[in-house]
Amino acid sequence: LITSTQPGEGKTTVATNLALSLILAGKRALLIDADLRRPTLDSVFRDSASSSDDGRNTKRRPGIAAVREGGWRVGEVVQRLHIDVAGAAEGLRLSVIPAGRVSALRFALLESPQLDETLRFCRDNNDVVLLDSPPVLAVSDALLIAPKVDGVILIVNAGTVTEREAKRAKDSLEKAGGRVVGVVINRFDDGAGPAYHPYAGYYGEPD
Ligand SMILES: Nc1ncnc2c1ncn2[C@@H]1O[C@H](COP(=O)(O)OP(=O)(O)OP(=O)(O)O)[C@@H](O)[C@H]1O
Ligand SMILES: [Mg+2]
Repeated sequence: LITSTQPGEGKTTVATNLALSLILAGKRALLIDADLRRPTLDSVFRDSASSSDDGRNTKRRPGIAAVREGGWRVGEVVQRLHIDVAGAAEGLRLSVIPAGRVSALRFALLESPQLDETLRFCRDNNDVVLLDSPPVLAVSDALLIAPKVDGVILIVNAGTVTEREAKRAKDSLEKAGGRVVGVVINRFDDGAGPAYHPYAGYYGEPD
């Protein structure tokens, strides 16, 4: 589970890049858009053709919420996206479950046994399953998912989130039964500039 303290800290960016790194490393990776409030994977992969719908936008197909509401089976909502990779003639495949069209009932999924079944199916068929989710301090969705996954990665936007807030988010996740396995400090700026880089002098940088 990828989450953060506040909105906009880089959850979707990190989840997406992590998923792409995994498939480049030869792993079977599945990325789930469990941010049912602000689903964005549709737009991230807008231009990627799915093997099952030949280039149509992922938005047109059912997503994770349909497993609960529409009676779809998990296997039916997984999309196999074609990812172009420089040097790989065939490209690579990334499995994605978008949020899909979500209604007012969407949140029922998070507390239902269907979520456990969904995650079990996803685990059984992939090496790594990544869930993008809403921020912890805003809504409780991530707290409902946290105890059902193997680990939580907390994205912390350096500069906008205080240590206290980040700590509070971590505590909430742990209290909910989640295991925080790591933190990604995003948009980190050491403020020093290139002159302070250990190899700066190597390139004849400044005096
Ligand atoms: N390290 C970074 N450097 C530059 N831009 C970044 C970086 N990380 C994220 N961004 C940009 O910041 C914006 C917010 O990032 P992103 O959508 O990944 O955050 P989020 O946590 O998923 O947001 P939300 O809470 O709305 O779902 C995006 O436009 C993204 O491209
Ligand atoms: Mg996001």
